[in-house]
Amino acid sequence: MISQNTIQQIQSRIDIIDIVGSFVKLKKRGANYMGLCPFHNEKSPSFTVSPAKEIYKCFGCGKSGNSIGFLMELEKYSYVEALRWLANKYGVEIEETEVSPEVRLQQQASDSLYIINNFGQQFFTNALLHTSEGEDIAMSYLAERGFKKDIIDKFQLGYCPANGDQFANAAVTAQYNSELLEKSGLVVLRDEKLRDNYRGRIIFPIHNQSGKVLGFGARLIKNNDKAPKYINTPENEIYVKSKILYGSYFARMAIDKADECLLVEGYTDVVSLHQAGVENVVASGGTSLTPDQLRLVKKYTKNLTIIYDGDGAGIKAALRGMDLALEEGLNVRLVLIPDKEDPDSYVNKVGATAFKQFVEDNKQDFVLFQLSLSLKDAGNDSAKKSTVVSQIAETISKITKAEHFTRRQDYIKQVSELLKIEEAGFNDLVNKFIREKVQKDEGKNTVFTAPISEPDATIAADENGEIIALFNTDELQERAIVRSLIEFGIKEWDEENSVAAYIFKEIDNNDLEAMIENKKLVDIVQLYRRWYDEGNSPTEKDFLYYENEEINNLVLQLMETNTEISINWNKHYEGKIATREDYFKEEVISTLSYFKLRKLKKMIDENQRQLEKASTDEDQFLFLKTHLALKIEEQHITRELGTVIFK
Ligand code: UTP
Ligand code: MN
Repeated sequence: MISQNTIQQIQSRIDIIDIVGSFVKLKKRGANYMGLCPFHNEKSPSFTVSPAKEIYKCFGCGKSGNSIGFLMELEKYSYVEALRWLANKYGVEIEETEVSPEVRLQQQASDSLYIINNFGQQFFTNALLHTSEGEDIAMSYLAERGFKKDIIDKFQLGYCPANGDQFANAAVTAQYNSELLEKSGLVVLRDEKLRDNYRGRIIFPIHNQSGKVLGFGARLIKNNDKAPKYINTPENEIYVKSKILYGSYFARMAIDKADECLLVEGYTDVVSLHQAGVENVVASGGTSLTPDQLRLVKKYTKNLTIIYDGDGAGIKAALRGMDLALEEGLNVRLVLIPDKEDPDSYVNKVGATAFKQFVEDNKQDFVLFQLSLSLKDAGNDSAKKSTVVSQIAETISKITKAEHFTRRQDYIKQVSELLKIEEAGFNDLVNKFIREKVQKDEGKNTVFTAPISEPDATIAADENGEIIALFNTDELQERAIVRSLIEFGIKEWDEENSVAAYIFKEIDNNDLEAMIENKKLVDIVQLYRRWYDEGNSPTEKDFLYYENEEINNLVLQLMETNTEISINWNKHYEGKIATREDYFKEEVISTLSYFKLRKLKKMIDENQRQLEKASTDEDQFLFLKTHLALKIEEQHITRELGTVIFK
């Protein structure tokens, strides 16, 4: 772990113009800098960098963030990798916090495994290209399958000789540790001797994101019933199957450019498609996609196209991972290769151009495909059919993110048409699943993973006639109070209190959680309170650099929204142009008042329910009295709000 001290040193030296400027040619325009956006193709610059706010924003594609976010987006770095890049750039020495002996051992093992794998890869490549056995048996096999020399070189394919445990002997001679050799899966211990594990097989090295070899897939040259077709590296410190997509190292740039990732099953599919000029392709190894693999894809694109053979087994495995893809907001489509071919054999059969055309013409929506598949299975059985309806509703309910609202409604419409059921009823069913999921997640009480509660978006047009979604007033008020906290929290409220202290006094923690519906906003407030309680003075920057991208983005959004409280301010304070900064107290009071009003409304409603249920006169009287008191309080606040804001 990088120490907090180092992180602070890096942060204090960050110069966003310098950082962005290393990748984008920037020109000064007023207080900001402009350039051509590195994230989308454009001819005239709409990419701006604000040195004062330390953020970039593209008005063309909408991407925005801080320096670290920029590096993460552009270079696909993790947070820590971005920090290391910055440390290197600014000459900050990285101080690691104490690592435990176990962690150190694991790091050492990882390093050694990479070295052994590298040795293996070179040995196998040499055996393929420069030995007569390799040329006669392995190269001719690869040639027969249509693999050309340059693609063999690019993917560093190799061959493990069939006899004599040649690799094991070379590795022992080179004094590699035998335990680690076994761990790498390259050798096995038999009769107290290290033996080659991949004898007589074609070797497919598997690379990590920076091109180092993590492990191998080893294919028999002639299919035979006794041995498995492929042997893969066993799980070890660096080969973790659930996190690996074969080919991702070679595909990453192409995926970025095409804004689409193609997913196939096998090693040979990836290599053949590359050879045909289709480079944005990775393989799953025929199992269903794991969350980590999806995350890897999502780093580059939201568009995932699965290209599988139509036989069923593979496709069913693939579909199993896909609810998760929906949940993550991925746009999943499906292409089925006909005639018992797979992408490798099909591209070899029809050629590159026809293959690409076929993929373009045959993309189908995965949700609708799943539906048709299940309907086929259900046949005329009405019980099975209603299970299908329920299953598809559950799948669609996985699309919970506010920004995908339209997509979900589209599906609801299309599916109800397909199934010839009433749209409203189906909509209710989907909503039921969403509610159940929200309740379950809340029960888990996990910080930062709670779903965004869906704001009731209403649609309006902005001054340019662009359609924009507006949040309902509650969500706006929730945002306003969190913004006040972040923006003004460390200012003085009165002699004793800071603004934050004042806000926390006015609304206590329990109320906050109950009253703010957007759970992410609650997370931010809690984070603020934690920092504050620890004696820090949190500011916008702390949130923008916090190690959670969702928080970074939400805070960025909050601070960008124009929340000028009233156009009447200017009239009211004639001559001066009032800024939020000047009148932060009014803003804090007004946001707090809205908040209190909301709470009062809830209390009034609850009291009303009690009143209706009350059985004795005494109770009724009590509830009525409460009702009146609450109403008076409500009027009081409304009046106060009116004078502050709407005068
Ligand atoms: P396939 O059997 O479809 O093989 O398995 P393939 O990739 O098309 O290979 P060729 O074209 O016959 O040479 C698809 C993938 O499933 C995994 C491998 O990742 C393979 O590429 N697999 C298959 C194994 O891990 N072990 C096996 O025994 C078989
Ligand atoms: Mn194949």
